[in-house]
Amino acid sequence: MAIKFDEVSRTFYLDGKDITYAFFINEYDYAEHLYYGKTIGHDDLRYTRGTFGGSAVVKLSRPDVKTAVKSYNHFGSELTFHGTGDYREPMVEVVNPAGDRLTQLLYDSHEILSGKPAIKGMPSMRGGETLVLHLKDKVSCLACDLYYTVYEDTGVIARRAVYKNESKDVIMLNRAYSFAMTLPHMEYDVVSLYGCWAKERKIDRIPMHHGVVSIDSKRTSSSATLNPFMALAEKNATEEQGNVYGISLIYSSSFVLKAEGTPDGRTLVTGGINDFDFKWKLESGEEFETPEVIIAYSTEGMGGMSRSFHDAFRNYLINPRFVRKHRPVVINNWEATYFSFDSEMLKNIAKAVEGTGIDTFVLDDGWFGKRNNDSAGLGDWVVNTDKLHGGLKEIIDYVNSLGMKFGLWFEPEMVNEDSDLYRERPDYAIGVPNRPHCYSRNQFVLDLTRKEVRDYIVESVNKVLQENHIEYVKWDFNRNVTESYSLGREPERQAEFAHRYALGLYDLCERIVEANPDVFFEGCSAGGARFDPGILYYFSQIWTSDDTDAEERTHIQYGTSMVYPLSAMSCHVSVVPNHQTCRMTPMATRADIAHLGATGYELDTSHFSDEDRAVVRKQVEEYHEIEDLILNGDLYRTENPMESNYFGFMVVSKDKKEAVLTAYRRMGGVNNEMKLLKVAGLDAEKVYHVSGLDMTLKGSTLMNVGVAPMFAGGDFMTVKYWFKEVGAR
Ligand code: GLA
Repeated sequence: MAIKFDEVSRTFYLDGKDITYAFFINEYDYAEHLYYGKTIGHDDLRYTRGTFGGSAVVKLSRPDVKTAVKSYNHFGSELTFHGTGDYREPMVEVVNPAGDRLTQLLYDSHEILSGKPAIKGMPSMRGGETLVLHLKDKVSCLACDLYYTVYEDTGVIARRAVYKNESKDVIMLNRAYSFAMTLPHMEYDVVSLYGCWAKERKIDRIPMHHGVVSIDSKRTSSSATLNPFMALAEKNATEEQGNVYGISLIYSSSFVLKAEGTPDGRTLVTGGINDFDFKWKLESGEEFETPEVIIAYSTEGMGGMSRSFHDAFRNYLINPRFVRKHRPVVINNWEATYFSFDSEMLKNIAKAVEGTGIDTFVLDDGWFGKRNNDSAGLGDWVVNTDKLHGGLKEIIDYVNSLGMKFGLWFEPEMVNEDSDLYRERPDYAIGVPNRPHCYSRNQFVLDLTRKEVRDYIVESVNKVLQENHIEYVKWDFNRNVTESYSLGREPERQAEFAHRYALGLYDLCERIVEANPDVFFEGCSAGGARFDPGILYYFSQIWTSDDTDAEERTHIQYGTSMVYPLSAMSCHVSVVPNHQTCRMTPMATRADIAHLGATGYELDTSHFSDEDRAVVRKQVEEYHEIEDLILNGDLYRTENPMESNYFGFMVVSKDKKEAVLTAYRRMGGVNNEMKLLKVAGLDAEKVYHVSGLDMTLKGSTLMNVGVAPMFAGGDFMTVKYWFKEVGAR
């Protein structure tokens, strides 16, 4: 049993792999946080409560209870609420039928479940053992269930809240976050992943302070601006050492994560659905489910946190059917042709890579409706026979005859003004009557909050998938929502829009993925602008960035790996000069960096010489050699390209029998500095042969001394070293 309840101290102990999480029900029936960290004994931890507060606090109206701490404001918290003396960030804010905004959610009962109930209509992790804590406000009759799931084989905890209206009247939810928890001090740095198009998931690290540090998106998409992730890293925590708490929200719409430095010197962490532009009308008897948050605790710095997320997502989130299977090695035509192609050009691109090991041809944007540029066609999922003379069937048959699978691009959530769909149903696009639309890439977003709109999408996308032999789908989302408004809802429910969009999206994904269980799905959003665990639940990999330049990719993939496993990152080798940066990098470097994920190629191969083909064949062979590590291994980020001239990823098999180190040197030069590359994650006692350097050394030697890399002269060079166990000594 991973979850225990001590009836005397009313303490819950949740034990996961190497971690304990503890809280108790205090003398006011309040769920008071006690501890989250390394595994400890099931001792009475109430001695840690302290006496902060003095007399100038808002005391609880319970004179009968005689304890030192008398205010909600000073309890470590599992759920903060508003109006009764707690001035920290509340996890929930309501308007009760009487118009007051008070909440007092106190312990009622609990259950321990051997599994983990799924969330209705939203993605969540599987497995584990679950505690459900039932809290109630006896006056307003709002109830809240807090869910905690722990796992024996991973240190992460899954948390969420369900709010229930058990009153006879409407309760308005103005804020309904997923979790709250108190960390014992404020000596943290807050780490987040920020960015924009072509610069996704860069790393920010700022000191925690008194007041609130907030990470959010207001875009009805998780966004490239800030990823739904936050880490609190102790000041001295580094890549491989020190305590780090990581928080990752399984959600794809507007979110917020907050860390608040409170006057008692502790840190309150909370968040979930963004309460900016949010109100939810909860009718009598209704429930409101919040998205799940995954919390990882690591004593091995940021690297340990990442490995916990990677394992948790691979084991319990991503589609088990595909997560550890060989990934399609694609040739995608986007950067080769953009919108200007016909069947012959596509056939030439596919034919040119026959026999190289590239096994899937992905036809990107432009195959449907009047899609000759980005101002027409979205929404009309019927083949454009001016370009594909023999329809989809002919090109698919041709690709299949080369022994390759066929993949197709869709952008199901969108419509162009110049489309049959928009001409017929302009009301399907999101917009406010009598107000002009904002344009972005000449397209509008469809109103996924309406069932009839979703039905249209499901029907038209499924029709294409079911009438054709399509084995791979790239699902794109190229603009953010503006004019959030649905013609399908009454005025007082319009602020439900952003969350209802997420629910609509998940319904769409569910119905399309379920109807096509053999199809492999890749997510995409103007590059990697919706790279989040919610999307990853449905689509086993996500296009990481439109920026395919190897140098830029070292940054983007480094940042993305903070939370997401390598196998979740779709990475392509593209042409030089690079279309985004105009930079020239060697082909081998582009491949080595793109091979640190779910790899593919995206360039015009139709002019390939036999020599080019041979190069690609060799690269794909090499990729297959490391693919098992990419899918299943442990990642150690050995060199940080944001901090030095080098980038290094070392991927180690779970049994530590083999590993591969890919390292990159940005700038070459003469009389270069002495550089030993860091090596990590090996078994100190095992002996390894290092191919590429042809040396045999003990794990402890390799990890403490490093390896001396043999970079070729010039800029943007990579080296790749294999470590294979040859015994022990
Ligand atoms: C987005 C994607 C690209 C490509 C284009 C097509 O920008 O990120 O990979 O699919 O759309 O329009």
